[in-house]
Amino acid sequence: MSTAPKKASGSQREPVTIPGIAEMKRAGEKVVMVTAYDYPSAQIAEEAGVDVVLVGDTAAMVVLGYDATTPVGMDEMLMMAAAVRRGLEKPLLIGDMPFGSYEVSNEDAIRNAQRFVKEAGVDAVKLERGGPSVDRARAIIRAGIPVMGHVGLTPQTASQLGGFKAQGRTGEAAATLAEEALALQSIGCFAIVFEAIPSAVTEALVPRLEVPVIGIGAGPATDGQVLVLHDLLGVYEGHRPKFVKRYAEVRKEMLKGIRGYADDVRSGRFPDEEKHTYSIPQEELEEFARYLDDESLAAHTPWDW
Ligand code: KIV
Repeated sequence: MSTAPKKASGSQREPVTIPGIAEMKRAGEKVVMVTAYDYPSAQIAEEAGVDVVLVGDTAAMVVLGYDATTPVGMDEMLMMAAAVRRGLEKPLLIGDMPFGSYEVSNEDAIRNAQRFVKEAGVDAVKLERGGPSVDRARAIIRAGIPVMGHVGLTPQTASQLGGFKAQGRTGEAAATLAEEALALQSIGCFAIVFEAIPSAVTEALVPRLEVPVIGIGAGPATDGQVLVLHDLLGVYEGHRPKFVKRYAEVRKEMLKGIRGYADDVRSGRFPDEEKHTYSIPQEELEEFARYLDDESLAAHTPWDW
């Protein structure tokens, strides 16, 4: 947890911690998690009282305009996570390890997780998949950084999974999912994301797991839910998965605002002389006019300056 001084938000609630998330599961209190990628959206998540903020690698798609999550790199993720940190006080902040930042070796995984902590001030990191990622998660946890797991639809390896589609839809696939989740729990992950998994599979697994399960397209039986901010607010116009619920139409509002501005500029309604401009005392303006009339000034050509 960063010890840097925080801005007063006026909120009385305690900072959300990893033991606090575990306690919420025990108490049957749902964990609310959203993604954020910049300072203003972090401030809004703070003010809305969410529990956990993830700087997700979905940024590759919803912020950077790629058609997959794989192109985003550590430096871009760190820049976004540091901006989110500056806007956040109480929620737990998690940095999403991008594709290529942890698969090659435990050393790589630890080094990049440490960069998230040192350069962006995150409280924890998330990485995708069971299997080979279990070792990486263990190494990061042993290095002192909390890890959130992620199973089911893991977008970084979507092509291996046959695309962006639901996982665990056969008995065998559901059993593999269960094994992955249990392995991630056994090496010390503090929570696990379940993405695009049949509700009935989630319902069967959640009571068998001690760590909180945060769902996205995994039904209502999870200990909490996560949605991508740009999906839930209606900013992103790309592919909208079945599990997304829209709570606002922000893109439409943005379009309305920019069109209104463009109309006003073109018609001369903006800026308004009274409301949006600065004044200068009459005598100062006269002095400036004398300066402009000065012959030596008139003699200057632009390249003399
Ligand atoms: O990158 C992301 O936004 C995520 C969430 C969808 C869980 O991994």
